Amino acid sequence: MSLNIVILAAGQGKRMNSRLPKVLHKLAGKPLLEHVVQNSASLNPVSPPIVIYGHQGEAVRKMLANLNVTWVEQQQQLGTGHAVQQALSHLSPSNRVLILYGDVPLITSETLHQLIQDTPENALGIITARVPKPAGLGRIIRDEKNKIVRIVEEKEATDKERTIQEINTGIYLIPAHYLQKWLPQLKNNNAQKEFYLTDLVQMAVDAKIPIHSQEPQRYEEILGINNCIQLAELERFYQHRYSEKLMGQGVTLCDPTRFDVRGELTVGTDVTIDINVIVEGRVTIGNHCLIGANSVLRNVILADHVEIKENCVIEGAEIAEHSVIGPFARLRPGTRIASSVQVGNFIEIKNSLIDSHTKAHHVGYIGDSEIGQRVNIGAGTITCNYDGANKHKTIIGDDAFIGSNASLVAPVKIGVGATIGAGSTITRDAPPEQLTIGRTPQRSIANWQRKKKNTQEI
Ligand code: UD1
Ligand code: CA
Repeated sequence: MSLNIVILAAGQGKRMNSRLPKVLHKLAGKPLLEHVVQNSASLNPVSPPIVIYGHQGEAVRKMLANLNVTWVEQQQQLGTGHAVQQALSHLSPSNRVLILYGDVPLITSETLHQLIQDTPENALGIITARVPKPAGLGRIIRDEKNKIVRIVEEKEATDKERTIQEINTGIYLIPAHYLQKWLPQLKNNNAQKEFYLTDLVQMAVDAKIPIHSQEPQRYEEILGINNCIQLAELERFYQHRYSEKLMGQGVTLCDPTRFDVRGELTVGTDVTIDINVIVEGRVTIGNHCLIGANSVLRNVILADHVEIKENCVIEGAEIAEHSVIGPFARLRPGTRIASSVQVGNFIEIKNSLIDSHTKAHHVGYIGDSEIGQRVNIGAGTITCNYDGANKHKTIIGDDAFIGSNASLVAPVKIGVGATIGAGSTITRDAPPEQLTIGRTPQRSIANWQRKKKNTQEI
């Protein structure tokens, strides 16, 4: 049977106390709804997931315009049953429908695959779970033969029913023709005056439709997010799960509780990552790399044997093997560092190529530059790449030596093997192999009297 996916995301999320719609809040750097859409992609539905949106719908659609989904509006939020009803015209009666939630972001494709595999085609499949804090959730009521007979919402539950640990995750797999038959029959004569999707269970029991239930591998997978505390808890769970995966691959994390990935990390063997490292976007780390404490790597590719020392912020950069960066270096987008380069402390590099064996050890700015091999960039060297309107290029040939505190006013070329005297302001090209000095000659003034404060005054 083919599969349709419906994701409910119309709720307001009042308890987030935020102007941002709940499903746009980010977990591991990605909107909650995007997690759900991506996790369900591997289930191969016949058509893109149908997302039921409502509250601040336009903002949600705009922010997530990149997602391949069908948007269906639920104008008034009259309950979960009413929400699924909005999707009916998009469902083919011969399909099965998987119902997911925009605010339950960490359900895994493994758990969902299992549900699809194990639920008989004519049955209703439900994911249930035992959670430490069941308060507020629907409870699963089973009969003496352990068969599910209905779901009771906490608001309608008796004291005894509230002691039940097994809860309804709200995730169901159900033939579409049952939805088409039963959803129009739902009533809202309950405590919340809502059309409850959970009432389908009672209907399935009455119609003698088998019910298959399944638990997730870990209960955190099915937790929903209603407030910032739960968002933070699930963020920790996500990070913990990601760290475990990396450590399973052989990555040494000095402290997995102080390491965050907000994107995709591909990592080689024998990599050590010190504490408080944040990885964002797409990051690749080669073999035998060391990442120092408090560093941020955002959209970065590191080859083998690269060392990033402490407190570096590296974004949109590629670094070749055996290069050493930091501590306290900042590499900005468009930076390409060849092999065996050394970039030291308080160096900022933007949109520049630094060829192999070049060194820039202390304090400086390199922007829009092409720097050759074995170049030595002295302390305090600045490329003056911006004239207030346009950016200009600095080109430095192989084996050049730039003395400390030089200002290279772009556009400018420093020839192969050139030497630039310390403190120079270079405004014209410097020829190869020569010493170029661009500073006022030193002079001394004899008999010069320094001003003195008159301390005798009263
Ligand atoms: C629902 C279940 C409950 C289950 C819990 C799991 C019902 C009646 N109850 O309760 O048994 O334990 O989920 O988290 O189904 N939504 C819409 N439109 C609506 C109402 C809700 O799109 O009109 C969406 C919300 O955005 C949310 C989801 O459906 O993503 C669940 O809604 P919510 O009101 O949080 O359901 P609960 O009361 O928590
Ligand atoms: Ca509710």
